[in-house]
Amino acid sequence: MRTTSLFAALAVTKAALAKGPFLQQVSSTQWIIGNDLWNLTQGSTYATNLQYQGSDAVGNAQGHYAGYDGELNLKFTSASIVSNTPSYIDISFSSSLGDLHWVIYPNLAGAYQYFVNKALPDISIFRTLWRLDPDRFTHGYNTNKNEKLPDFSLYANAPEIQDETFQFPDGSYVTKYDFANYVRERDFVGVYGVKTGSWYIHPTNEYQPGNHLSQTLTVHRESATGDAVQLNVVQDTSHFRVGVKTPQPIGKIWGPWLWYLNDGSVSDARRRAAHERATFPYTFLNNTAYHSRGSIKGKLTLSDGRPAAGAAVFLGDTDTSTRPLVQGSGYYYTAFADASGSFSIRNVRSGSYGLVAASNGGAIGDVYTNLTSSPITIAAGKTSNLGRLAWAVPTNRQRVFQIGAFDKKATGFTNSGPHVHGLTEKSPANLTFTVGTGKDADWYYASSKLGSWDVVFNTSTPSSAARAQLSVSLAGYSQSTSLTIYLNGNKTIGTISKDTLTSDPALYRSGTISGEWRFLQYDIIAKDLKEGRNVLTFKTDRYTLWRGVLWDSIILEWVL
Ligand SMILES: *[C@@H]1O[C@H](CO)[C@@H](O)[C@H](O)[C@H]1NC(C)=O
Ligand SMILES: *[C@@H]1O[C@H](CO)[C@@H](O)[C@H](O)[C@H]1NC(C)=O
Ligand SMILES: *[C@@H]1O[C@H](CO)[C@@H](O)[C@H](O)[C@H]1NC(C)=O
Ligand SMILES: *[C@@H]1O[C@H](CO)[C@@H](O)[C@H](O)[C@H]1NC(C)=O
Ligand SMILES: *[C@@H]1O[C@H](CO)[C@@H](O)[C@H](O)[C@H]1NC(C)=O
Ligand SMILES: *[C@@H]1O[C@H](CO)[C@@H](O)[C@H](O)[C@H]1NC(C)=O
Repeated sequence: MRTTSLFAALAVTKAALAKGPFLQQVSSTQWIIGNDLWNLTQGSTYATNLQYQGSDAVGNAQGHYAGYDGELNLKFTSASIVSNTPSYIDISFSSSLGDLHWVIYPNLAGAYQYFVNKALPDISIFRTLWRLDPDRFTHGYNTNKNEKLPDFSLYANAPEIQDETFQFPDGSYVTKYDFANYVRERDFVGVYGVKTGSWYIHPTNEYQPGNHLSQTLTVHRESATGDAVQLNVVQDTSHFRVGVKTPQPIGKIWGPWLWYLNDGSVSDARRRAAHERATFPYTFLNNTAYHSRGSIKGKLTLSDGRPAAGAAVFLGDTDTSTRPLVQGSGYYYTAFADASGSFSIRNVRSGSYGLVAASNGGAIGDVYTNLTSSPITIAAGKTSNLGRLAWAVPTNRQRVFQIGAFDKKATGFTNSGPHVHGLTEKSPANLTFTVGTGKDADWYYASSKLGSWDVVFNTSTPSSAARAQLSVSLAGYSQSTSLTIYLNGNKTIGTISKDTLTSDPALYRSGTISGEWRFLQYDIIAKDLKEGRNVLTFKTDRYTLWRGVLWDSIILEWVL
């Protein structure tokens, strides 16, 4: 390594001289940054030689870098200190596409980081990451999973049965998607071992695209090299949804978040994360728009008089015709209403937004309509009180049955929950669900195998009803599975296939809760339903391994 002699020379003076946060230029494409606790060597793309606790925490791994859409990584051409204060320095590494900042305090192991866009093209993913020494960082943590990363040796003889998905000798599957989770449910993310932990702490997710259902990757074992990968995907309109690219305004800021080093303690990282959330917004950021913030509150009431208890509230683009999951140009906020339907969001960047509220199951798990209101203005230092918001639900309906709460998730069905590859194969081919005695757990999260899932129910046509309506809400769909819905044997109600829906990757990427939400409604004329016993059949007539229909809710009701 070329810089070894330089380090050796500096080491002599270092012991005597605590120099605090620094940027040191080594050559036109190499810089050293850090403080008395840590430092790293930044090249034009990769930062390596992370000195912490007396040794290099990167080793033979790839180190730190940033980029978009695959491996389009930033190339830094210059570095400078843009804020130099007694308490911290803000170092900007400049690339043609934007500037990556490191804000370094004297006594903090790690740094705050943020990225300011200058010229990114339309993108679906932007991320920074660390690829660290796998011997030192043996475990991965996210809110849903805290465990040892799979041994690298296991990959050597494991067939790659689809992209980034390996089958180990014991038959189990491992993919980098197993550690994916819901972005807005995260407390913090990191890799750690007995001596050292490296963590990402986001005090807000405002720069993350999408609503409550946005999922991205977190940590994983790099399958080709064994590196311990600590991902920081801060822009993603691709994974676990029907992907799109979105334009990025010049000056848009992702971050600041804290990259935090410690002795490997998860509980210390948790305490630090709580501290960061309490400290947000960060005073050190020299940006007027970042500090211009207001609040919003309101109370959601269904038109049938019920409070919209627990509703998922999304503050997104003023153009509410774009699916929330792929809104990605602006800043986005989410909340859940309380039992009375009241919600509030603090520290919202001032500007115009579109508000969408939808059921998140629970007491309003029968409600498949939403409340949409746009534009909504947030003014600096003010609270936008929307007051009472009336959310229309149809009142001329008489429920015949519902399977699963309407929440855009497969929650409640068997095998929904963990990110595990291949669970579609554990769903039965044939199933009979009897309304009245059947429970949600008798249904499975996904249909994949060839066969028929029958829903047996009794009904009697109300005198005023000319038709019934079948609402089929899917939490996701992966092609090329095809499924036909029949009533009482041979009456075709509808078809779900790649000809009617665009595929999303959730099901074959270890997704068992949600991908991209689809809502299908079918009219059924009254005379096609019999007095007494009826059977509605969901018949899978085309099979594709690990793919299929990810269920949310099925609702049949008379239209009065
Ligand atoms: C980086 O840290 C190492 C280990 O503490 C130290 O020996 C070295 O002098 C530091 N480099 C700089 C440029 O301060
Ligand atoms: C903030 O930025 C402005 C211009 O961008 C600069 O003039 C000013 O010195 C900066 N303030 C600090 C504290 O760095
Ligand atoms: C809200 O309801 C409208 C009208 O049914 C529908 O088109 C839209 O997709 C829904 N949006 C969300 C985010 O649920
Ligand atoms: C599912 O039911 C069909 C029709 O009764 C039958 O032909 C098929 O063998 C069943 N599949 C399985 C796996 O039991
Ligand atoms: C339908 O009604 C019949 C006759 O009342 C009854 O025997 C049967 O158990 C009912 N089936 C269901 C699914 O409710
Ligand atoms: C559907 O089934 C009914 C009753 O078994 C029968 O009368 C009718 O001909 C069938 N229709 C078709 C299109 O197969």
